[in-house]
Amino acid sequence: MRGKSILLIVGGGIAAYKSLELVRRLAERGINSRAILTKAGAEFVTPLSLSALTGEKIYHDLFSLTDEAEMGHIQLSRSADLVVVAPATADLMAKMAGGLANDLASTALLATDKPVLMAPAMNVRMWQSPSVTRNRAILENDGVLFVGPNDGEMACGEFGPGRMAEPLEIVAAIERALAIEGPLAGVKALVTAGPTREPVDPVRFLANHSSGKQGYAIAEALARAGAQTTLISGPVSLAPPQGVKLQRVTTAREMLAACEAALPADVLVMAAAVADWRPDIAANSKIKKSTDRVVPLIKLVENPDILASLAQHAQRPRLVIGFAAETDDVVENAIAKRRRKGADWIIANDVSGDVMGGDKNRIHLISEAGSEDWPEMTKTDVGARLAARIAEKLKGAA
Ligand code: CTP
Repeated sequence: MRGKSILLIVGGGIAAYKSLELVRRLAERGINSRAILTKAGAEFVTPLSLSALTGEKIYHDLFSLTDEAEMGHIQLSRSADLVVVAPATADLMAKMAGGLANDLASTALLATDKPVLMAPAMNVRMWQSPSVTRNRAILENDGVLFVGPNDGEMACGEFGPGRMAEPLEIVAAIERALAIEGPLAGVKALVTAGPTREPVDPVRFLANHSSGKQGYAIAEALARAGAQTTLISGPVSLAPPQGVKLQRVTTAREMLAACEAALPADVLVMAAAVADWRPDIAANSKIKKSTDRVVPLIKLVENPDILASLAQHAQRPRLVIGFAAETDDVVENAIAKRRRKGADWIIANDVSGDVMGGDKNRIHLISEAGSEDWPEMTKTDVGARLAARIAEKLKGAA
């Protein structure tokens, strides 16, 4: 981690004192901090204490001639490897979600070309309010990383989620986001997960039972192994995996577009259960039940095959991995699927039991060399083992 640096934005909250501790813990690991202290943040910690710990001047004014002479605000926003907002207040989240730029902190967040990690801290009711929930979803969709908040007693006496993550938890999240350690350091991974939903009309859709658990576990394992990981997810009810850039999509066509936009990548893991077909036309208004009981006929058309398209793409990832959800002749079907789709590996699993939605999986890794049968294990363990196999392969050992 030595030689890495963060831009720390300290917002106004009682948790700001923990940011001083965070700077110390980072310094112990050789990670330098430069800090922007918001006006509200300065009510809780002093520029002097922050400056003493960072060993740098503290920035707080967008229109300060001396600040700008030393380092322009655009340059400041890009001067570090990662921007960390701790504490991230409801106000800072709202500003970033809305694209406001009316002070130095919000301008830096808008202008940066680096990943952003937020450690929210606020009252439990504020955290659970519809607007903060909405802003968080927008930010997650834009690829902002989050650590915490944790459950616990708050300074205001209430109990629940809203406490800022502890400094060492934020350090761990920073190390994951900087992702310079681990067997997959320097590798860019693209993972898809969950089902796709194909609209029939504004209230109905075609989908499948995919829970997204396996894809999420793989994305998290790749990130933990040091890969810079993007997860493109269909609608699921899972918490975003730690250290992963998450993008939510709905339909197969949206998933294909999001995957193409995320290229180049070194490795692709297509764990999503993409709907093979979609209704030819998605009605603009709800299809009504007719009085003479005529059942509507829904004509289906084929969706693009994302795995096959990316396997032939001009920016084809070095390692293309597909899944094969099968109910019969699992290995034979998967071997044929590997060839048909142009994938390097296929992870075949038997979905005739309760794999979909469950926590365990029994898979066969199909490669050029044949079939490798893995014992039944948790989806988390499948993720870790697959990440290790990917690392071996990309480093040329497999
Ligand atoms: N896949 C895809 N795009 C599709 C359908 C599937 O990218 N339109 C990907 C899946 O993400 C998975 C692999 O292809 O990695 C195999 O998916 P599966 O549903 O098992 O295969 P199908 O192509 O649907 O073949 P079949 O229905 O004949 O088993």
